[in-house]
Amino acid sequence: MESNQVWKSELYDKRLSFISEFGKDVVELLNPQKGESTLDLGCGTGDLAFEISTRGANVIGMDLSNEMIEQAREKYPQLQFQIGNAEAFSIEQTFDAVFSNAALHWMKRPEQVIACVWDALAAGGRFIAEFGGYGNVAAIIKAINDVLAEDYGKDATKLNPWYFPTIGEYSSLLEKQGFRVTYAIHFDRPTKLEDGENGLRDWLASFTDSYFQGFGGQEKNIIFEKVANKAKNELFQDGAWYTDYKRIRVMAIKQ
Ligand code: BEZ
Repeated sequence: MESNQVWKSELYDKRLSFISEFGKDVVELLNPQKGESTLDLGCGTGDLAFEISTRGANVIGMDLSNEMIEQAREKYPQLQFQIGNAEAFSIEQTFDAVFSNAALHWMKRPEQVIACVWDALAAGGRFIAEFGGYGNVAAIIKAINDVLAEDYGKDATKLNPWYFPTIGEYSSLLEKQGFRVTYAIHFDRPTKLEDGENGLRDWLASFTDSYFQGFGGQEKNIIFEKVANKAKNELFQDGAWYTDYKRIRVMAIKQ
């Protein structure tokens, strides 16, 4: 995943385990079959690659983050993981399926990702993905933009590291590549964060590096507090934070 984001694999596993938990639904859509080859694109620390492997599929996990791949190898030494850029990879073998959960929104060149996925698939192979869609985390983005504009005179709109397309936009890109889109849905999934009052601060510390280049640790903590205050009305309920996630889930076949 290309951005200024520094991946903190331990925090990812400790505080953001919901990512893999929700990803299990996407594994259901993949419906892994015994003996088929599957590439997990943006595999993080490997939990879903492992889940897929328990169904008997042969999985390779790929991620751009060295730290994530190291942690994945440590957790699942029996599986194969490799560092790779989803926007620019080529791999010798072809796969029956390419799977991706909560990763594609970090990639701002979707045409390149889709072309690489196409090349990685065998004829008849399927691409199953879930990621943030149009409007995803809009309340959090607005709170960050407002704090940086009001208190630091900064226009943060250009610092947004994410790609959140509409379903029409993404399906069209897939079709342009030659895929047949057999399933596509754009749905709300407010997601409860762990760690009570601190939940949004953990989320911000994990995912928003691009916005805060040049700020020291202490200053960032102050900003996170301000962002949380702005977003509280919309996202904090009964002692817990809920992110305003909007997901796109797609299945496409290489004809
Ligand atoms: C998401 O899973 O939707 C997401 C995660 C981190 C940053 C932005 C969106």
